[in-house]
Amino acid sequence: MNTLTMLKKAMKNNYIVPAFNFANFEIFKGLILACEETKSPMILQVSESAMNYFGDFVLAGIIAGVKKQKLPVSFHLDHGANMDIVKRAIKIGFDSVMIDGSTLTFKENVKLTKQVVKYAHARNVTVEGELGVLAVANDDGLIADKERFTSPAEAKLFLEQTGVDFLAVSIGTNHGVNKYVGEPKIRYDILKKIEKEIPNTPIVLHGASLIEETYIKQINNNGGIIQKAVGNKNLLKNAYKTHISKINMDTDFRLANTARVREYLNEAPDKYCPRTYGKQGIDAVKQCAVYRIKNICKSNNKL
Ligand code: G3H
Ligand code: 13P
Ligand code: ZN
Repeated sequence: MNTLTMLKKAMKNNYIVPAFNFANFEIFKGLILACEETKSPMILQVSESAMNYFGDFVLAGIIAGVKKQKLPVSFHLDHGANMDIVKRAIKIGFDSVMIDGSTLTFKENVKLTKQVVKYAHARNVTVEGELGVLAVANDDGLIADKERFTSPAEAKLFLEQTGVDFLAVSIGTNHGVNKYVGEPKIRYDILKKIEKEIPNTPIVLHGASLIEETYIKQINNNGGIIQKAVGNKNLLKNAYKTHISKINMDTDFRLANTARVREYLNEAPDKYCPRTYGKQGIDAVKQCAVYRIKNICKSNNKL
């Protein structure tokens, strides 16, 4: 499916298209089951490292197979770093790509994004750009001084100069298990100003996992050590009323999968077939995705 068409429809009708990453087969399967059950559109995202993990021909087969099923799904390259990875993703069959020049200077980001837009549009592929810098996480938590919120005025210029189709912004969320620098807060005031500057452009929110305490406890009670986990699902409960039309979640599904597999293997230590515990992970991911589709994205039954 055309990712931009999905996002424009969501923006017009006050819901969000869930953009969920899959890092392994079990997460992929859980997400597809959630999409079928809720009748929600869905963007399935793959990072460069996930691409390398699957291998290009496996991924190309997955994409072709899902397309045959006629599911309301598009495949999207997440955080593409350069032209080479964009070309590789388009060759595999992705419907849209992200070019992430957010850590470059404004001028360099424009230059790279513009090149990608030209290449991708010529092949009927739509493009997500990113402006503003999300905080970087290391083992000690978040490095706050790298975080830079998106400038609304620059967002307008960026759009005019690149022709990008949808824009990822930095308004307080971050990747990984520790979402916030200081007190959990999303800068909806900045978002409002960005919406005024680029009223027709769907906005993308990265780092949108909810990081529910139940998953963290389930992992830590079964031999895991996840420290400094901070989320706040209430911060996203009204996001569907804004121009945020694509919400990126990855960490939540990693947590849901790992938590249930750890718990199950502790409950059933005699089990060793990967399909037996894998199925537990698939079901946990499906449940996790259905909750987010219904309660955060409001995209159920929006085909
Ligand atoms: O936004 C980043 C994603 O969570 C991708 O992470 O490179 O470990 O697949 P990854
Ligand atoms: P989370 O780490 O919050 O899941 O964010 C994922 C993301 O932004 C993928 O691009
Ligand atoms: Zn991201």
